[in-house]
Amino acid sequence: MSKILVKKSGALKGRVEVSGSKNAVLPLLAATLLTGEECVIADVPDLKDVEVMCKLLESFGASVSFDKEKKKIRVKAEKITTSEAPCELVKLMRASVVAMGPILARTGKAKVPLPGGCAIGDRPINLHLKGFHAMGADVETKEDEEQSGYVQAVCKQLKGAEIYLDNPSVGATENLMMAAVLAKGTTVIENAAEEPEIVDLANYLNKMGANVKGAGTDLIKIEGVKKLHGANHAVIPDRIEAGTFMLAAAITKGDILITNMLPNHVRPVIAKLRECGVVVEDTDEGLRVSVKRQILRATDIKTLPYPGFPTDMQPQFMTFLTTVSGPSVVQETVFENRFMHIKELKKMKATIIARGRRAIVAGGSKLEGAKVRATDLRAGAALILAGLAAKGETEISDIYHIERGYDGICGKLTALGANIKIVP
Ligand code: EPZ
Repeated sequence: MSKILVKKSGALKGRVEVSGSKNAVLPLLAATLLTGEECVIADVPDLKDVEVMCKLLESFGASVSFDKEKKKIRVKAEKITTSEAPCELVKLMRASVVAMGPILARTGKAKVPLPGGCAIGDRPINLHLKGFHAMGADVETKEDEEQSGYVQAVCKQLKGAEIYLDNPSVGATENLMMAAVLAKGTTVIENAAEEPEIVDLANYLNKMGANVKGAGTDLIKIEGVKKLHGANHAVIPDRIEAGTFMLAAAITKGDILITNMLPNHVRPVIAKLRECGVVVEDTDEGLRVSVKRQILRATDIKTLPYPGFPTDMQPQFMTFLTTVSGPSVVQETVFENRFMHIKELKKMKATIIARGRRAIVAGGSKLEGAKVRATDLRAGAALILAGLAAKGETEISDIYHIERGYDGICGKLTALGANIKIVP
């Protein structure tokens, strides 16, 4: 298994270009199943998760070609040959569940193995199923012969419905939007997720001929239409990758210009870095993040659904807070188990006390390199940041998590002066 070796790196300097958003491109690719016509998605990041999603589209009968040079994926789902998602792909990537809405809308049936939990939480899909049921689908969760659970939804013609989401689930909002665009009548999703990735998906669906209004607010209205046509779309930049590079500048007291990013998508991260004394300038070329002072202040973080502080930035920001002066409190309100990185950071001599979903981070840690494990995607990114600041060398294992969600992170950090490499 390959590992990432990171050595203490001086102040990172230079410019880095952010890739397309992982959490936007996955639902966009699922949306191409809603039409038999050709679709082209541009600015696609080169990620393991994107490859899995391409295989998933092919498993439904779509023809898919991914031109990595041009960062373009061409999809043509002329005929859907099955409404069942293959177990091995869903187990590889739980985001496969967003194919359920399009397949149900297109074929009247969808059968998906239960994606199951992951390191950061149970990841239930009850809100997705509540919405399909509200739209007239017969939904049942079953155990099949090999005892692996799956969920099946059947409905000849989905009907518009009023759906209240008990919490603003990103995946449920995406799945239900895609089921509703071909339903008969009007669907209203209340307490919808407001993330930029939802807006990107709604913009794409409307380009395909759908009628989606209100994306980006907590109330989304969808007028069903008969058919959707093919359309082209460029993926929005990855706000979490951008935030991760902002933290790389902060933790190494560097000076980085981050291009191809939308500052509006990372407002909470900008605000919190400024509270710590990091200089963040919105320039014509991009966002410039620099540290001009030796002592950085502590600040408290509480993760919330968008537009609150993003849970996907919590591990990276906590790592940075171990190095500033003074204690901080970090609260994780979105996932029930997203503190797996604390155990690994403690191996690097961080002082953190976690109680439930709240952690107290002592500042002023002199991090030391150690052998650590990436427990999930963002925890892996956090350990890379820790390694940049830690004395000596840090060896990170289970790096497939990182490769799922960051396009060429080692190369990008090396270009900024980081001492990092992947070893087989
Ligand atoms: C998306 O996951 C992202 N993944 C996650 O990013 C992100 O952390 C999350 O949204 C929150 O912003 C993708 O977009 C592929 P949720 P998703 O449904 O849709 C509970 C990363 O690192 N819930 O908004 O699965 C759930 O348990 C990943 O890039 C239900 O209870 O997140 C969680 O506590 C990690 N019932 C909370 O809602 C449901 O039916 C938020 O989950 C669905 C969710």
